[in-house]
Amino acid sequence: MCGIVGYVGGQSALDVVVEGLRRLEYRGYDSAGVALLADGKLATDKKAGKLANLESSLAESPLPAATTGIGHTRWATHGGPTDRNAHPHLDCTGSVAVIHNGIIENFALLRAELEGRGHQMSSDTDTEVVAHLLEEETRGNGEAVDLADAMRRVCRRLEGSFTLVATHVDAPELVVGARRNSPLVAGRGNGENFLASDVAAFITHTREAVELGQDQVVEVTAKSITVTDFDGNPGESREYHVEWDLSAAEKGGYDYFMLKEIDEQPQAVADTMLGRLGADGRLHLDEMRLSDDDLRAVDKIIVIACGTAFHAGLVAKYAIEHWTRIPCEVELASEFRYRDPVLTRSTLIVAISQSGETMDTLMALRHAREQQARVLAICNTNGSTIPRESDAVLYTHAGPEVAVASTKGYLTQIVACFLVGLYLAQVRGTKFGDEIRAVVDDLRGMPAKISDVLASMDPVRALGRELRDATSVLFLGRHVGYPTALEGALKLKELAYMHAEGFAAGELKHGPIALIEDGVPVIAVVPSPRGRGVLHDKVVSNLQEVRARGARTIVIAEEGDTAVEPYADTVIRIPQSPTLLQPLLSTVPLQVFACEMADARGHDVDQPRNLAKSVTVE
Ligand code: G6P
Repeated sequence: MCGIVGYVGGQSALDVVVEGLRRLEYRGYDSAGVALLADGKLATDKKAGKLANLESSLAESPLPAATTGIGHTRWATHGGPTDRNAHPHLDCTGSVAVIHNGIIENFALLRAELEGRGHQMSSDTDTEVVAHLLEEETRGNGEAVDLADAMRRVCRRLEGSFTLVATHVDAPELVVGARRNSPLVAGRGNGENFLASDVAAFITHTREAVELGQDQVVEVTAKSITVTDFDGNPGESREYHVEWDLSAAEKGGYDYFMLKEIDEQPQAVADTMLGRLGADGRLHLDEMRLSDDDLRAVDKIIVIACGTAFHAGLVAKYAIEHWTRIPCEVELASEFRYRDPVLTRSTLIVAISQSGETMDTLMALRHAREQQARVLAICNTNGSTIPRESDAVLYTHAGPEVAVASTKGYLTQIVACFLVGLYLAQVRGTKFGDEIRAVVDDLRGMPAKISDVLASMDPVRALGRELRDATSVLFLGRHVGYPTALEGALKLKELAYMHAEGFAAGELKHGPIALIEDGVPVIAVVPSPRGRGVLHDKVVSNLQEVRARGARTIVIAEEGDTAVEPYADTVIRIPQSPTLLQPLLSTVPLQVFACEMADARGHDVDQPRNLAKSVTVE
């Protein structure tokens, strides 16, 4: 997500902050900005686009010299990637500057309150409310400004996840940070101190770091780093020495961005739900610019997407049809417009794209709009072309995905599809409120279950190494396990350059079973034995069929499902979950398996040969 840097010391704050932002460029961003505290005034500059835009603006209109400053690279969530939405954000009086990473869930309410008290907002961001709240909390009563105390009081009013860093004209040589569910680390230098979203930003200056705990505020001066909780009690923090080199630091100590992104999935899934599931269980999709009447008129849904996003669409079909009873087709975007699809004003096109720039998907959605269909984009990149050209957009909040093959992008696309399905069911009344609430509760439990899966991946990694010389791996699944099988096979092709195919388990006997011979690895995704028991038993039968013909069977099954054991050479356990939500768990071992196998075969996991992250040709 966004990159954050703060500095107080003896050097040029601008140089330190801009250098830090450059070190955080790997995180991906769409705008950048700085604020310096010079001569009792704030001097700021911010520009959409690359850091180079900000740097040329700074070269044209230099800011005064300063030794206290903050800087930010933004990955847009609320409000497009424009100059005015770039951070830092100031209050009405220009006294406080704030930068932020994360999502402030209750910002709409806070914004309305602040506007009611006469504050003027100058951006579309959730962040700006913090600047105005800090303004109120530090409003002159003749006493010196206690910025840290103001920050603590503001944080107590915020919901969601955030890293905040602020500086105030009446609190010179001080930078204050705060964090909840979003990273912030301090760097301890000699006569200078740093704050950053990760150590990569200051590793060339110091390797002594202070890790902040949950719900903590940190006050940074040139000489001190003071940590408290949101109530002002002394906070616990962990001092450590950074051993990583710069390249490892960028990857958070992981060998590949993909491994980091796989581990970020619990957070990415939680962030994608943040602010959208009300405490009352009702769904709030504020970014839907289609009216409820439009949604009630929908008589057909067609999901269009490419690659991994297409597999998210396949999962969506099961959920959307089940919850809404609206017929839902899923089509490869590259095929869509060439078959002259039947589209009307009542057709809802759901275009899924992590990058928002995939040309096949873009051309398909343009075709759909020409035929009067409405388009809802599910996208991870704010302000990209696909959401811009759509009637409505629901952003996944996965944060930037650097590895070419999608992982956290995929899980969050599935979550977004579930949210769309539930929203349609709510608007059209095809599910009762308590039924929707039950699914919402299940969804809320998924990040913790994904973490459980991630914590038990050692045997999967060992398996990836053991099977590195296989010539082919087959994947089987039924129902939502079928797209999971397709995604498992795609990951293996993309990363390990190995022949892999995913099959609907029931289709096996109609041809693919001829591929089974002694020792062929077959990975089967087994549905829950609870709920749709028939489905489970059918996959277990298919498992028996391949095992009887010599396949080496690797089975992904729920905890407690002992029925698979007689037919499995290896069982990979995942927590119990409702069948429809199972892909959020069963996909994870397949990602880890493909990564490990690719690494064992000596491939660059992040940049597989012949592939591009954003394919802008048809
Ligand atoms: C490329 C990538 C795939 C990705 C597909 C769709 O082919 O290599 O990993 O799934 O594009 O990308 P999108 O950005 O539209 O989701």
